[in-house]
Amino acid sequence: MRYFDPKILASEITPQAVFENRRDLIKVAAAGAFGLALAPWFSREALAANSDKLAATLNPAYAAKDELTPAKYVTSYNNFYEFGTDKSDPAAYANTLQTRPWTVSIEGLVKKPVTLDIDDLLKLAPMEERIYRMRCVEGWSMVIPWDGYSLSKLISKVEPLGSAKFVEFISLADRKQMPGVKSNIIEWPYREGLRMDEAMNPLTLLTFGLYGEVLPKQNGAPVRIVVPWKYGFKSAKSIVKIRFTEEMPKTSWSQFDAREYGFYSNVNPQVDHPRWSQASERRIGDAKGAFAPKIKTQMFNGYGDQVASMYSGMDLKKFY
Ligand code: MTE
Repeated sequence: MRYFDPKILASEITPQAVFENRRDLIKVAAAGAFGLALAPWFSREALAANSDKLAATLNPAYAAKDELTPAKYVTSYNNFYEFGTDKSDPAAYANTLQTRPWTVSIEGLVKKPVTLDIDDLLKLAPMEERIYRMRCVEGWSMVIPWDGYSLSKLISKVEPLGSAKFVEFISLADRKQMPGVKSNIIEWPYREGLRMDEAMNPLTLLTFGLYGEVLPKQNGAPVRIVVPWKYGFKSAKSIVKIRFTEEMPKTSWSQFDAREYGFYSNVNPQVDHPRWSQASERRIGDAKGAFAPKIKTQMFNGYGDQVASMYSGMDLKKFY
């Protein structure tokens, strides 16, 4: 495991070409194919042998028509700094994460604060499969079938107070289970947040699985957030706390460098990261590998119809 200044991103040190050459890539025979029918095939091929199934029903209203990223890439090319900063570290080291027992405490400005056991949280609402485009701030993207339900279903159960304006998500930070937490790359625990309306947007998914199986540890087991119109770092993994606040929460990345990582972090091809353009992206696992042409990044990652109205009147260059 290597540690370094995260300002030099892993993707710069390990360009995708090198990463991909390191691996014995499967030729995606099914490239171009898409759909739920494929999911079990990919997952059998790629997810852990002892992984558990999650019964989830595809919600066609939330199924991107893009070609799916094979599970092999979804579960081996990860960002999860609690387990190291290389893209391959989470898959190599996250096996030490204990996902049972696990509780999520829901606290702050709510009428009904509660600590829920993960197995109760799993049963709180019907499990849906959503196929979401995911865009990382580093310039790569994937298309992932996630399994979960809208976070709004949980939020309405705890009855937020009128004063609750933001929701904070706090990940586990346990040095015993997470070797990366020993280094101070960012301030632990990993913290992210959303404005209340963003958290209530039906796209925001409380996520327990991918490809119809429980989340692999490297993808944020046993429960994470997925916010597909924002850069990937907003989607906090392995969360233990959801806190409702009046003030905008201080997130780990904005504390690290507020100029580079804003609170909103909506995918926006017109607003460059201070050190690179955000106008295009490379799909991980494309059959052409490192030679795959870059594709244009879409405003709000293509979810403008569902989310743009939340930002009307806001200067998105200022509120990046
Ligand atoms: N959550 C925690 N707790 N720690 C992390 O390092 N990395 C973020 C996000 N959530 C991260 C995290 C980043 S930068 C990205 S791009 C996504 O997780 C990656 O999710 P994936 O590995 O499942 O694709």
